[in-house]
Amino acid sequence: MKHGGVEWIKGKPSDIDDFSVNLNPLGVPDFVKELINDAIRNRIYELYPDNYKSLKENIAEIYNVDPDFIGVFNGATEVIRLLDPAVVEEPNFLEYPRKWIYFAREEDSRFLYSLQGDETIISNPNNPTGSKINISEIKEFLDNGKKLVVDESFADISDVESAIPLVKDYENLLVVSTFTKSFSVPGLRLGFSIGRKSEYLEKKAIPWRVNSIAYYVFANVDSKEVRLFFAKSKEYVRKLREDMIFKLPGKVYASSAPYVLVKFNMPIAEINTKLKVFKIRDCSNYIGLNNYYGRISVKRNFSSFVNLLNAILAGKDL
Ligand SMILES: Cc1ncc(COP(=O)(O)O)c(C=O)c1O
Repeated sequence: MKHGGVEWIKGKPSDIDDFSVNLNPLGVPDFVKELINDAIRNRIYELYPDNYKSLKENIAEIYNVDPDFIGVFNGATEVIRLLDPAVVEEPNFLEYPRKWIYFAREEDSRFLYSLQGDETIISNPNNPTGSKINISEIKEFLDNGKKLVVDESFADISDVESAIPLVKDYENLLVVSTFTKSFSVPGLRLGFSIGRKSEYLEKKAIPWRVNSIAYYVFANVDSKEVRLFFAKSKEYVRKLREDMIFKLPGKVYASSAPYVLVKFNMPIAEINTKLKVFKIRDCSNYIGLNNYYGRISVKRNFSSFVNLLNAILAGKDL
């Protein structure tokens, strides 16, 4: 599939252990599971959501910004679809509307990204490479009056510095983010934008785009508990990534994210066929990569997967 992930069979999810989708390896925290259960028990799905005021206030509290800067959407993807085409440095997330592109520099085992153009979209950390852009470079770009969208969909659980504190001082900055990755809830669909452009983007979006269960859950999470959970998750991702990188075969690229990019000497489609019960992301549809690049999510209990991957690449008969 275009974005990775595994197909459902006759309406039921498959039982493949999927390393192609990047979610918080700590999974859904209990405080979120309890709110989901509350929402179902209280039959929240029988209600239309309102104007999302309490949801925006709670997101604003989590990130310590003015609620007027917040826009809420059906995942970060909905915000991205509403953006005007902009300059994109490759490889990058496929959904961005591209005006023109340029390529990141590959040096040793890292992709180096630098900001160009005057209306630019970046992912920080970058998907699919896991590279990061420093906040000093972001500030310099904004100080030159250029417009920037920073997609921080993975930032809450990654080793990057967030640009969110800059939104109050820079009209030319919009941050896009989501709870999909950080809370491991791609099925709930809650994305948001932070910046002065949020109001304009929401006007272009459909009403009731965030369903009432997602609304209930994230309007009621405790902001302090969320911040603690993110801090714990960052720590956990860092440690797990270091353990995994050490054991992975192939050319492993430096990453600040809950996934790593690896270049193998075998096409990913062939690796996936041999992996059978596991799957990694074939990066052949990313601009600037090819079918030998795979993206692997940082997940708990990776030993059997990594052992099998090593055996496949060593050419062992399985
Ligand atoms: C960089 C980036 N931004 C946004 C998204 C989409 O997130 P959501 O599930 O909230 O639409 C993804 C999903 O893979 C992503 O990798």
